[in-house]
Amino acid sequence: MTKYQLYATMGAGFESVTAKELQHLGYETRTENGRVFFEGDQADIVRTNLWLRTADRVKILLQEFKAVSFEALFDQVYQYDWAQLLPVDAKFPVKGKAVKSKLHSEPDVQAIVKKAIVNKMTDQYHRRGFLPETGAVYPLEVRIYKDVVRVSLDTTGESLFKRGYRAAHGGAPLKENFAAGLLRLTPYNGTHPLIDPMTGSGTIAIEAALIGKNIAPGTWRKFAFDQFDWFDASLHPEQLAEAKAAVKELEAPIWASDIDQSILSVAKLNAHQAGVLQDIQFKQVAVKDFKTDWENGIIIANPPYGKRLKDKQGVAKLYREMGESLRPLNTFSQYYLTSAPFFEECFGQKATKKRKLFNGNLRVDFYQYWSKDLKKK
Ligand SMILES: C[S@@+](CC[C@H](N)C(=O)[O-])C[C@H]1O[C@@H](n2cnc3c(N)ncnc32)[C@H](O)[C@@H]1O
Repeated sequence: MTKYQLYATMGAGFESVTAKELQHLGYETRTENGRVFFEGDQADIVRTNLWLRTADRVKILLQEFKAVSFEALFDQVYQYDWAQLLPVDAKFPVKGKAVKSKLHSEPDVQAIVKKAIVNKMTDQYHRRGFLPETGAVYPLEVRIYKDVVRVSLDTTGESLFKRGYRAAHGGAPLKENFAAGLLRLTPYNGTHPLIDPMTGSGTIAIEAALIGKNIAPGTWRKFAFDQFDWFDASLHPEQLAEAKAAVKELEAPIWASDIDQSILSVAKLNAHQAGVLQDIQFKQVAVKDFKTDWENGIIIANPPYGKRLKDKQGVAKLYREMGESLRPLNTFSQYYLTSAPFFEECFGQKATKKRKLFNGNLRVDFYQYWSKDLKKK
């Protein structure tokens, strides 16, 4: 089978996390900002789309060359054997991005690349300048960085964070791949009790259950490659069946609570859709009243930041309550995501480590409190 130069894209700050996921799946990786490269065939395209929890998309790198003029861009793109990739009726939107490059006008870059492909295809298919674009979608992307052009085909389609289990969401949900990324920054592997005391629509708890039960995050959805006419259509159903057979029982309990009963019904509906409702203990509890007799686990939460959901004073009070009820649980490693710079002061303890991340465009910190009691299993 043809080997492709592939890469996964992910949110800033998660490169090493996705690289580890890929290595765990057996690939050798090379990391750049926002992307991790690896090699693979069609079966690997299916495997990575189905199993990567923290990535956004998996793409095939089709061309890489230097260009500082539109003529050079056109000529190089024209060189590629497009008819081998795109059937005559292919719909091929081209997304363009240009950063720190001589060719900086993104609409022009996009238009030139589109034109070069159309010209080549009409030559190859003898169509005299007309392509119907009524068939399957082949999402193309051209990205120029420091004059180096990369042309890629997106094999994923809608971002991988859209797992397909979310029936509804509340106030400020985390993206599913972001929640999985946070979990991957903790020692969580399904063998420790996990607690999210501010669960909202349940994203962290549900993603934890998927990890703990070895459920492939892509179980519920289709991918762009499903439509490619040259793609072996038996691979996806085969791997999906294997993935379903590999689901296991959860070894340690998961707790998800929130002060808001109505958001908990949303969380339960989402958990039901993901097939993990029975694996998560949902409860309405205010953080200040939170108690547990579980030990040696992980507490992870995405409290309000004071930007969108509550005012600053209310949030400072909440962080103090968290400090009073959660901080004493010192057999737990604890992880809190917030953009509020006063978190540690209110919580009452300096973090063991702080990791800078971006939740969408918002700069946030992942405050980590490591317990020496938490035994890595
Ligand atoms: C940013 S949202 C969490 C979003 C969640 N990670 C998700 O993906 O849907 C913060 C949650 O904290 C909850 N919350 C606010 N104050 C609380 C308190 N005192 N005790 C428990 N939960 C609280 C809110 O009801 C809200 O659902």
